[in-house]
Amino acid sequence: MAGPKRYYITTPIYYVNDAPHIGHAYTTLACDVLARFKRLDGYRVKFLTGTDEHGQKVEKSAAAAGMEPQAFTDMVSKNFNDLARVMEFSNDDFIRTTEHRHTVACQEMWRRLKERDQIYLGTYAGWYSVRDEAFYGEDELTKGPDGKRIAPSGAEAEWVEEPSYFFRLSAWQEPLLKMYADNPDCVLPASRMNEVTSFVSGGLQDLSVSRTSFKWGIPVPGDPDHIMYVWLDALTNYITALGFPETEGGGYADFWPADLHMVGKDILRFHAVYWPAFLMAAGLEPPKRVFAHGWWTNEGQKISKSLGNIIDPIELVNSYGLDAVRYFLLREVPFGNDGDLSRRAIVGRLNGDLANDLGNLAQRVLSMVNRNCDAVLPAPGPLSEEDEALLGAAHGLVDALRTAIDVQAFHEALEILWRVVRAANGYVDHQAPWALKKSDPDRMRTVLYVLAETIRHLAVLLQPFMPSSAARMLDQLGLEDGMRAFTNLGPADALVSGTALPKPEGVFPRLSEEGEGA
Ligand code: MSP
Repeated sequence: MAGPKRYYITTPIYYVNDAPHIGHAYTTLACDVLARFKRLDGYRVKFLTGTDEHGQKVEKSAAAAGMEPQAFTDMVSKNFNDLARVMEFSNDDFIRTTEHRHTVACQEMWRRLKERDQIYLGTYAGWYSVRDEAFYGEDELTKGPDGKRIAPSGAEAEWVEEPSYFFRLSAWQEPLLKMYADNPDCVLPASRMNEVTSFVSGGLQDLSVSRTSFKWGIPVPGDPDHIMYVWLDALTNYITALGFPETEGGGYADFWPADLHMVGKDILRFHAVYWPAFLMAAGLEPPKRVFAHGWWTNEGQKISKSLGNIIDPIELVNSYGLDAVRYFLLREVPFGNDGDLSRRAIVGRLNGDLANDLGNLAQRVLSMVNRNCDAVLPAPGPLSEEDEALLGAAHGLVDALRTAIDVQAFHEALEILWRVVRAANGYVDHQAPWALKKSDPDRMRTVLYVLAETIRHLAVLLQPFMPSSAARMLDQLGLEDGMRAFTNLGPADALVSGTALPKPEGVFPRLSEEGEGA
């Protein structure tokens, strides 16, 4: 393909039955870091998020609020857009499934499936959970104390009997298993790949893809008594946003297949089984990868409305600061695992990693330059072995980070950066530039230059994770905006001695161990 490398990344589109919570913020944050990383690394990126506005669940929530579904979804969808601004998400598009472009794409998807004999009319008789918007087999359900059937997610399932179109999912077992075998990284982490493969190996049943018992959805072409199953509607958003059904020029040709659909572990099956099957059945390519991340608990407890312990991401940002929250969520647990959000853990990370390690490093180096070098970036003399070792470690960062980021190992990427932060702090202690001021000012200037150059690497590479804090660090190093891409990390673009630097100020405040945050 001509031109720059492309990268297409998507979040799930969020149900508008509720206000955004930490789960939504987490999934989109992970995508935002990947999108920013790839842009800085020279890719043309398309980063998509949005809202999933059809289906019985949304219809019920609108009725409960005494509103028309469209007015209700307009109101709630806006909250998701607002969250994106508060969290500084850099999405290039925000799709709503009630938009006209999406109806067009879904109806065309349906037509293609129909034309290829992948859809037939029958009757659905079985269990359905409105909360999950998912069909369940009898064997997947348990009985609650009152005899009600409960899905593995904890949601109630009800018996449904109605005319329905079916998608021939059963025919796609072998092609799906082949796709997993040929592309071992198309579902990550590996444990999730095992889960998906064993589900598909167990046999697939045809899937009900239309409903007749409610109205809030996209009508089936040629049979408007039926509306499309909300997951077929929702999943298609990923190609709507590329201009599908137009596949020849423009977005689709440039960006499909998606490089990554980021999802939570609860919606893996829809993305790693149904969606590739729909696409292959319509004669389209499946996505390159689905990554399923874990779930957060709140102070050790499962997060749920009934427990009243939902975490509002905006409140979290108000308490701790945006970049601190972004850092914590991606550093605290190996990405893919579940994690616990506790005040103790947040304060520990922020004071330890940010204020003490990184904040101190930047602050003490920059204030020594300010005081001892007339606020001008000093010129280095000949380099010692220790200088070369630290600079070598800094120069090695970008490749190491690419490797970690390409498998969505955010925690690993941050740990790699912090190894250099710690090495740089050790170097400061050992070189003691404050003592060199009198004994050997030339050597002091070399040491401070080596440190400034190390901090430049750290701050450039931290931009995807903590955009504002990294920008402030780079401002304090006097680095122009046009010099902050990963292609500028080489020695040819090293900091220019003689550059006047602004007065340094701390970027990462300490939090008190008790009470509210900064
Ligand atoms: N509308 C569907 C997705 C359709 S995509 C074609 C949907 N929407 S959702 O609003 O329920 O999505 C919620 C997202 O938040 C999911 O990715 C889910 O995994 C994530 N989380 C919900 N609770 C969570 C935690 N407690 N922790 C982390 N993420 C969690 O599903």
